[in-house]
Amino acid sequence: MKISYHGHSVVKVETEKHTILMDPFITGNKLCDLDPETVEADFILLTHGHNDHVGDTVSIAKRTGATVVALNELAVYLGQQGIETHPMNIGGAYEFDFGTVKYTHAFHGSSYEEEDGTFVYTGMPGGILLTINDKTIYHIGDTGLFSDLKMIGELNDIDLAFIPIGDNFTMGPDDALIAADWIKADIVVPVHYNTFPVIEQDPEAFAKQVRTGKGHAMKVGEVIEL
Ligand code: NI
Ligand code: MN
Repeated sequence: MKISYHGHSVVKVETEKHTILMDPFITGNKLCDLDPETVEADFILLTHGHNDHVGDTVSIAKRTGATVVALNELAVYLGQQGIETHPMNIGGAYEFDFGTVKYTHAFHGSSYEEEDGTFVYTGMPGGILLTINDKTIYHIGDTGLFSDLKMIGELNDIDLAFIPIGDNFTMGPDDALIAADWIKADIVVPVHYNTFPVIEQDPEAFAKQVRTGKGHAMKVGEVIEL
């Protein structure tokens, strides 16, 4: 499969048969190279309800017919907007056509702000373990450091981890290095930085400091094959 990075927490996974988008924040994401009007998707996986993660989900799902996989409250809320959803919850796994999704917990918030300013709370935030053909990607979502990452690293053989380094809203680089030690992924890719002034970071410097696994600051549009 091909895994590409598109700025902020946007990840695209392409298998022989399916295109899977994770946290497709495209409109308003100055780092993103995707076009929300043409991007393909069979499934959209969401870590939590914040606008910088839900992003263009509804319009992409309406255009492509993609199924949106999210934690229950967010899935129900999005389902009310006329798109196909698959609700899950933390600790649960489900085998889809493309592979298996399992949600982990994350320490963060989860709410969606509608265009008129209405604030909708969307349950718990999460992280996503995505296993396709014996390869496991861990998109840990927005979170601070928490010691259960050690357990998640023990219980799963993780090939590629996407870890936030932006600080302010999520863990910063120092805590992300500890997270990488605990997750024990073969490849560690920093995300959630340089999109907003308060989360400016040096992803190359972070990647060099990764001690467990290989740090790799993916360029926007870059592809890793697993
Ligand atoms: Ni968030
Ligand atoms: Mn975020």
